[in-house]
Amino acid sequence: MSLIVAENISKDYQVVATKVSKDYQTGEVLVRALRDVSFEIEPASFVSFVGPSGSGKTTLLNLIGCLDKPTQGNLTVVGTDILKLDRHQSAQFRGDNLGFIFQDFNLIPVLTVFENIEYPLIIVKNTAAGERRKRVMAVLEAVGMADQKDKYPDQISGGQKQRVAVARALVSDPKLVLADEPTANLDSKTAYTIINLMKKMRDELKSTFIFSTHDQKIVGEAEIIYSLADGELVDKQVKGGKQNG
Ligand SMILES: Nc1ncnc2c1ncn2[C@@H]1O[C@H](COP(=O)(O)OP(=O)(O)O)[C@@H](O)[C@H]1O
Ligand SMILES: [Mg+2]
Repeated sequence: MSLIVAENISKDYQVVATKVSKDYQTGEVLVRALRDVSFEIEPASFVSFVGPSGSGKTTLLNLIGCLDKPTQGNLTVVGTDILKLDRHQSAQFRGDNLGFIFQDFNLIPVLTVFENIEYPLIIVKNTAAGERRKRVMAVLEAVGMADQKDKYPDQISGGQKQRVAVARALVSDPKLVLADEPTANLDSKTAYTIINLMKKMRDELKSTFIFSTHDQKIVGEAEIIYSLADGELVDKQVKGGKQNG
């Protein structure tokens, strides 16, 4: 046991969660959304957290995404102890290291496809115009949406919107991409396409991808699958027999 711990510490993990718990207090009611969750995620992994509604997936992704803090436990993301960051530092950390993909795409309706992807480079990164154009076009090509760049979100399909959202998440070259139920609003064929696009981008960019889903079919596309039930981590499956940890 002590040997395993020593080995884990020496590795360069992207996420290390140690006995992470999260409680929500609403009035008199205490909800234990996560209980003593521990895991490590290696760089360039393609990982899924699966579980039914209410099992704690969004809570966990929000903690990894530095949008909220654990009630108890330790959480290191991209080598940073996220409990030590204040609000301002958390925002900076997210902009520098993380990309987000959402269930409902979260595109800005008044901006074109191109402008939606460019937006984080303007507000977070303050990238110069020429460089912005180069990077936006590169990610648009990568997700197969370059020819749609001047359209508005309401002129493209759900699958195309999620391609744009994948491009937007990747434009700032994040080390870690978090996607909370990215396929929940897509038909199953498009869902597979999006998950496999994410996997292709992982192969090319070597970023780590973590997605959540309640869909048992989609989760099979992940290489490492963690199962959540009632806020507890109840199973870990590693595809291809490459068991790590
Ligand atoms: N902001 C909140 N306040 C109170 N309870 C919450 C809040 N967010 C989530 N919960 C509760 O925490 C549990 C886990 O929720 P969630 O992380 O959203 O699960 P999932 O994403 O798997 O559906 C649920 O019981 C949910 O009702
Ligand atoms: Mg959720």
